[in-house]
Amino acid sequence: MSKFSDRYDPGPQIAQCGAINLGTTDLEKSLFFFRDTLGMEEVERRGNEVYLRCYQELGHHSLVLTQQDEAMVNSYSFRVKRPQDVELFHEELKRQEIEVLELAAGSVAGRGTAIRFLLPGGDHPFELYHDIDKPMAPEALRSRLLSNSSKRRGLATRRIDHFNIQTSPETINQAEQWVRDTLGFKRREFAHIPEHPDTILASWMSVTPQVHDLAIVANPEGKKAQCHHVAFNMQDFSDVLSAADTLKDLDVTFDVGPGKHGIGQAMYLYVFDPGSGHRVELYAGGYLIFDPDWEAIEWKRETFPDGLTYYGDTIDPFPPSISAVTTNSAGLILK
Ligand SMILES: [Fe+2]
Repeated sequence: MSKFSDRYDPGPQIAQCGAINLGTTDLEKSLFFFRDTLGMEEVERRGNEVYLRCYQELGHHSLVLTQQDEAMVNSYSFRVKRPQDVELFHEELKRQEIEVLELAAGSVAGRGTAIRFLLPGGDHPFELYHDIDKPMAPEALRSRLLSNSSKRRGLATRRIDHFNIQTSPETINQAEQWVRDTLGFKRREFAHIPEHPDTILASWMSVTPQVHDLAIVANPEGKKAQCHHVAFNMQDFSDVLSAADTLKDLDVTFDVGPGKHGIGQAMYLYVFDPGSGHRVELYAGGYLIFDPDWEAIEWKRETFPDGLTYYGDTIDPFPPSISAVTTNSAGLILK
């Protein structure tokens, strides 16, 4: 007799953010930042790619740094809950006539078969996979804490936290709806563009109890396929503040922060990877959602500034131009 819980089929589901592949024009500077300063473990090198993970990640990698001519995001990868979910999502994408590329096991180091496609309404390159190796760290790096893959080192980012992507105001509603309808993300907090009350300005969505695993924001210049930032999680607010001290002394360029978001209630510090220029958020705290009938919280013009910056170094809630939220372009390619 099968287990009671196995007799139900919830359909394909996303489990979590898996990894981001960042193209960098200066791999050594990016390694100085992510490996030597943030303290990530270099797990594997293959050609022009370096695979890294944080100290509380057992999977093979959450970050791939790829040396290339243009700094851009090569992929945003999400892990699905069950092995069969990769194929089930593939079938649904085909039904929706979305072009899908199949990626063979091992085409990304440590990872099983995957599918790749461009987010409808966004054109961001998304990948879905399930199988991932869980290699032991070298003995010298290994932690006595069995739930940690390696010792806490450097500024101690402990896991990848979320992606924040941008698309045009013309397509953001489509992208946000698609992510919810097809990938199963739940809208947790959101805002509309004040002058266009039917258009999403920003939506924070999750498949986990986090307030967001993925945020989609309207790009003020109307560009699609933009990456605003990738966030890595730290244990405490104090870790973010210590990171600010250290990174300032290392001449790492700050964007904004430290501060605390009202939306999600986490502490933030946005800095730029000195190798690639990608914006990286160091992120700690935040509330969790366990309520099964959570109603998404709407932030309006008068409350939205508190949502972005509850206290601390402020983020412009309504940036007049791209200069306030400059982004790296994401890959438009299905290769
Ligand atoms: Fe963020």
